[in-house]
Amino acid sequence: MNLKGRDFINLMDFDRAELEGLVELALAMKHGDDRRRHLQDKYLGMLFGVASTRTRISFQVGAHQLGAHAEHYNASDLQLSNRESLKDTAAVMGRFLDAIVVRMYDMNFYGQGRESLRTLAEHADVPVINALDDKDHPCQVMADVLTLAERFGAGYKRKKVVMSWGYSKRQKSLGVLHSMMSAGALLGMDLRFVHPKGYELDEEYVSFAESALKLSGGTLEFSNDLNEGCEGADVIYVKNWKSLKMTREEEEQFKEGIQSDWCVSAEHFRRANPGALYMDCMPFVRGEQVTAEVADGPNSIIYDQAENRLHMQKAIMASII
Ligand code: CP
Repeated sequence: MNLKGRDFINLMDFDRAELEGLVELALAMKHGDDRRRHLQDKYLGMLFGVASTRTRISFQVGAHQLGAHAEHYNASDLQLSNRESLKDTAAVMGRFLDAIVVRMYDMNFYGQGRESLRTLAEHADVPVINALDDKDHPCQVMADVLTLAERFGAGYKRKKVVMSWGYSKRQKSLGVLHSMMSAGALLGMDLRFVHPKGYELDEEYVSFAESALKLSGGTLEFSNDLNEGCEGADVIYVKNWKSLKMTREEEEQFKEGIQSDWCVSAEHFRRANPGALYMDCMPFVRGEQVTAEVADGPNSIIYDQAENRLHMQKAIMASII
């Protein structure tokens, strides 16, 4: 696997062997091969226009463990806030830094975050890592694949992973869903996406997955009913995402009417396979998309997922920088 110099923006840009290579490297790093000197004296810039806990801290700690320096910049503190162009910002950052981690998107303009990342990648001349935009969250999902591989061993691809929409007062990115659909299709996983009507994912990702699955041998199912969607699940992973079909006002009104039907509880786990696991990329509010009983229960692996952000991102940084 040679990913040197590549951007890490969208998992559709990678192949199965490359994704499997990252999982193997992350596992090795977690268990001692930390390649401490791999990024000795490299400089990592972290440009964030949106709040973050897990991504920001795990990149900072991971970069330090690899021997690099990582600095965090709020977009509002840079001259971007005085209308300097992204092109100039990228070109200048590229002269100082060895890689740029970026989280910038606006929930009101689907696709604009991705355009910004592509502009930065085009003009920065160093690898750009997507720390969540409006279309993908590749670092989160690769950490989730690592978590599944740890829990189930090589057999994780034959486990039924249910990715369900859950109620949230906030509007959130579709990134985790799209990245999981891409990764699952490339790796040959058995995925089921469950959501209310009106929350269909971007057709670009569904088309990619349908053609990738023909080669990988995985499966892709859809359901609009949470009870039915949890039948036979080995994993229930809950995530809120915004509708691509409704305006913000329409969606706010619609969500209030379906809130009680889209909170995952012990009742849903009774329909799942015995021992089914609860996954959640966090953050979430207990009682919105999931009950506290499930989120804090013995089958919840949400903090393993969070920890694996560190190990996976070290593998990504060590590979591309
Ligand atoms: N899951 C995730 O990306 O968390 P943060 O928003 O806290 O970085």
